[in-house]
Amino acid sequence: MRTHYCAEVNEEHIGQEVTVAGWVSSRRDHGGLIFIDLRDKDQVIQLVCDPADNVEVHKIAEEIRDQFVLVATGKMRARGEGLENPKLKTGKVEMVVEKLVIENRSKPMPFELNDDKVNEEIKLKYRYLELRTQKAYDIFKLRSNATIATRNSLDELGFLEVETPIITKSTPEGARDYLVPSRVHGGEFYALPQSPQLFKQLLMVGGFDRYFQIAKCFRDEDLRADRQPEFTQIDVEMSFCDQEDVIEVAEKLIHDIFKRCKFDIPTKFNRMTYQDAMENYGSDKPDMRYDLKMVDVIDIFERCDNEIFSGIAKDPKANRIKALKVPKGDEIFSKREMKKFEEYVRKFGASGLGYFQMKEDGLKGPLTKFFTEEDIELITERCELEVGDAVFFGAGAKKLVLDYMGRFRIFLAEHEKLNLIDNSKFEFLWVMDFPMFEVEDGKTKAMHHAFTMPVTDENGKIVYDDIEELKSVAYDIVLNGTELGGGSIRIHKEELQKEIFTLMGISEEEAEEKFGFLLDAFKFGAPPHGGFALGLDRLIMLMTGSSSIREVIAFPKTQKAQCLLTKAPSPVDEEQLRDLSLRIRQQVTV
Ligand code: AMO
Repeated sequence: MRTHYCAEVNEEHIGQEVTVAGWVSSRRDHGGLIFIDLRDKDQVIQLVCDPADNVEVHKIAEEIRDQFVLVATGKMRARGEGLENPKLKTGKVEMVVEKLVIENRSKPMPFELNDDKVNEEIKLKYRYLELRTQKAYDIFKLRSNATIATRNSLDELGFLEVETPIITKSTPEGARDYLVPSRVHGGEFYALPQSPQLFKQLLMVGGFDRYFQIAKCFRDEDLRADRQPEFTQIDVEMSFCDQEDVIEVAEKLIHDIFKRCKFDIPTKFNRMTYQDAMENYGSDKPDMRYDLKMVDVIDIFERCDNEIFSGIAKDPKANRIKALKVPKGDEIFSKREMKKFEEYVRKFGASGLGYFQMKEDGLKGPLTKFFTEEDIELITERCELEVGDAVFFGAGAKKLVLDYMGRFRIFLAEHEKLNLIDNSKFEFLWVMDFPMFEVEDGKTKAMHHAFTMPVTDENGKIVYDDIEELKSVAYDIVLNGTELGGGSIRIHKEELQKEIFTLMGISEEEAEEKFGFLLDAFKFGAPPHGGFALGLDRLIMLMTGSSSIREVIAFPKTQKAQCLLTKAPSPVDEEQLRDLSLRIRQQVTV
């Protein structure tokens, strides 16, 4: 229907006849002269309807309202002196309309399309209208570029794109499954995959050597700004590889994606052990765009005269006392603000938040009286304190302290008075050497998943004193404090796999019932293999600076896992239930 997209029209077309098609983004009636901004997928062009040129066209233009669908033909001309719009690609020209067709009308918009403050519910209900905005188009253009770059990059590296089933058996990623009842086998269920984990391992047993998939994953878990029940992974698996081979592929892939999307990032990323990430930043996904590193001071506090602190310090295995220096913090924050910080950490279980201020005449604060002069000196040195700095202390059980001090670190970085986060930066970090297990309420759980390779000795055996100290060959890729992806080298030998199941308290019958098909496959010559998966939605969210994952998914769900557009989930007919051998016992809304 068109001769040109709006973006293609420029000064070269002056004097030529052009046909454009799109939506009215605004219409201005200047008493006689009507100006229409017509927008197609990604650009706006100005149409001029002058009754002096064409009465009929002007008459049609009088009827036109926002978001009407038009096809307009006319001659391009230069805009008058001082009337150019430098913000538009087409800002130097306009069309004198000779033919105007209203292809369709539109009801008034239910919300102002480019208004960021509009309630999200209404935007999600009319998501297709929001997709009409430039902002949305730019996001999805970038997303498309990222997936094309993914395919090109992995193809170049010899990876095969393979699809795996959507209605399948549950995969063990730790969240609840979405279940699909079977009609043919009444009372039995498929599960939607939480990831293609087991299938990609089977593809390695199948000899495909290098697999990838842009895979839909489904997890019924509590939703957050960076979590959706249905999301997309760039899923990768390879055979006869070690951790370094996998990391090399991931770094090249990420670099290629960013390059195609016109971002310059390094070809290699920094690395940190899980232990250092936790101890120094209180998180397994530290944001490295700013410093604020925690310092261990438990040995100094052990000698202090305050029984609470010295008591905590007596058990340095179970407890932590961590210091967090805020450069110029004493100059920037009032005492009242510092007290407010305490309220913040209390929300996460802290019993308090101690602090020192570095004044001209030395370290001051309510706690200094408990320390000897030498120890005050030692704290000053270890925390590298300079006049004007403040330093905060968290003390208590290890897990608790690392958690709230880690959150406090982020809180400080985001604080408007410090503003430490440079949003134009991309800081990648590999977090490595994850523990194999975490023990919760006496239950040993795999930190990644049960197929992750533990660190073994030269005979391929696991050796440990404390099961929580056993490390795995697992790695996460972190970008700006968000977990972008993760992966591991997998166990490919039956004996070791059995041992891990036993340690996790998974009986042979349970293992057989849940992953029997994988264990069987491993009896037929499974190659050494490993891989990773990147959260595509999260990647796009970070690349586009979006504040929520919902902005980068065409038709997202709400925080309560609803689709406001289609009104899913929704009740079904009695007959459909009967077909599926189901009866609703009680309606529970969580
Ligand atoms: P994992 O569970 O760490 O690993 O998931 C990989 C990445 O997927 C993204 N992600 C999500 N994105 C949006 N919404 C969610 N609910 C959600 N859950 C996860 C994250 C995460 O880092 N099979 C393994 C990978 C492997 O070992 O190869 C897996 O799925 O960005």
